Amino acid sequence: MNYISIAPMIRGLCIDLAGKPQIAVCEPAKEGKAPARAMSVEIAGGDTEETIAGIIQKAYAAWKTAPLHAAPSAGGVLIPSCVSLTSDGKPEALYWIDDDLDSARKRLAERNDSPVTAPPAADGRLIDAAARASVVKNRVALVTGGAQGIGEEIVRNLAAAGALVLIADLNLEGARKLAEAVNAEEKRTAALALQVNVSDEDSVEAMCNAASESAGGLDLCVSNAGVLKAGSVLEQGLADFKFVTDINYTGFFIITKFAGRLLKAQSRTAPRWKTDIIQINSKSGLEGSNKNGAYAGGKFGGIGLVASFALELVEYNIKVNAVCPGNFLDGPLWSDPEKGLFVQYLKTGKVPGAKNTAEVRAFYESKVPMKRGCTGKDLVRAIYYLVEQEYETGQAIPVTGGQVMLH
Ligand SMILES: NC(=O)c1ccc[n+]([C@@H]2O[C@H](COP(=O)([O-])OP(=O)(O)OC[C@H]3O[C@@H](n4cnc5c(N)ncnc54)[C@H](O)[C@@H]3O)[C@@H](O)[C@H]2O)c1
Repeated sequence: MNYISIAPMIRGLCIDLAGKPQIAVCEPAKEGKAPARAMSVEIAGGDTEETIAGIIQKAYAAWKTAPLHAAPSAGGVLIPSCVSLTSDGKPEALYWIDDDLDSARKRLAERNDSPVTAPPAADGRLIDAAARASVVKNRVALVTGGAQGIGEEIVRNLAAAGALVLIADLNLEGARKLAEAVNAEEKRTAALALQVNVSDEDSVEAMCNAASESAGGLDLCVSNAGVLKAGSVLEQGLADFKFVTDINYTGFFIITKFAGRLLKAQSRTAPRWKTDIIQINSKSGLEGSNKNGAYAGGKFGGIGLVASFALELVEYNIKVNAVCPGNFLDGPLWSDPEKGLFVQYLKTGKVPGAKNTAEVRAFYESKVPMKRGCTGKDLVRAIYYLVEQEYETGQAIPVTGGQVMLH
């Protein structure tokens, strides 16, 4: 058991007591520096996640009922801004708690351990459609493949709605650039960049540890990274088939394995707090795709994984769902002027009679009953719905303008 594993338990406890998300930032212990502390937890003797969660809960209950920290009469909850974990009486690790990353970091720099007052827990009222984006305010979200395309749209929208977004991508440079742009736009630390290869277990585990260390855990994990290599079943090489499947299908298993462990640890001390894993699937996960079997097969399989993982993880209040977008025609996959599908389909004559890329695009738009491609806004509405909807799991939601309908 290391401290990165304990961070989500502390955050879990705080979000549960406060009824709203709290961010816990971990600082490794420094030799010879006894911290000022608002709450101290002696963890000697605890060696499993379960026993340590119990120790933290007990210490918190004792802290909360101490006269100095009794809940204020206005109905809010006083939570400590600083929790230190000790082993054998020696300071080992510190967690600074606040409802946004910048505030938590500021407290860390100032070593300010005065308690935070959190508002009373949400009263469960329905949120109207216009305010739906508020469901992600102050929440910690991670988006794989977030550096460009659909992932970038999700990152920008979540950040604008008030979330802290971890942009996890194979392309670290791209993720960094986007994080900088988003932070400048939002005038706060709204995004952080992480490198990950979703088809590699060690890499995904390191990514989840980084999420734990920098924010204390996650509320929402969007498994979006995906690739496409079309090809005839009669001709496609096994290496290409495996490349697509390793990222789109196996990658989702790996992401759910490690993000699920993190969310499960949070649920130990916040058993009522609901969290989400959302796979960005595709309309090709709902109907076959000609000469594109590796992609469609992996996406169909993704829906089977979503339904199965949902059954298992519901015990920890983790919802697992998929969103199935139609063609995102404005993203680089379609619109890149050199490698995009519009150019490729024009060159290979896939759209009979098309003389330029505008005509290729018009052909694909005409297939959609709503006559346009899918946008980032369309997609995040589905994500907000899934986060807001507490009574649904294991579902696949089409966002295709009517192009694909459920049977
Ligand atoms: N573009 C569409 O029309 C469309 C439609 C339906 C579904 N989707 C799905 O949406 C998701 C995003 O697609 P997109 O069009 O935005 O793709 P994109 O190619 O524009 O972006 C994909 C991102 O994933 C990253 N990535 C690739 N391999 C990775 C790996 N192994 N680990 C981590 N990151 C990796 C890339 O660096 C890139 O930033 C995919 O799952 C795709 O199947 C796309």
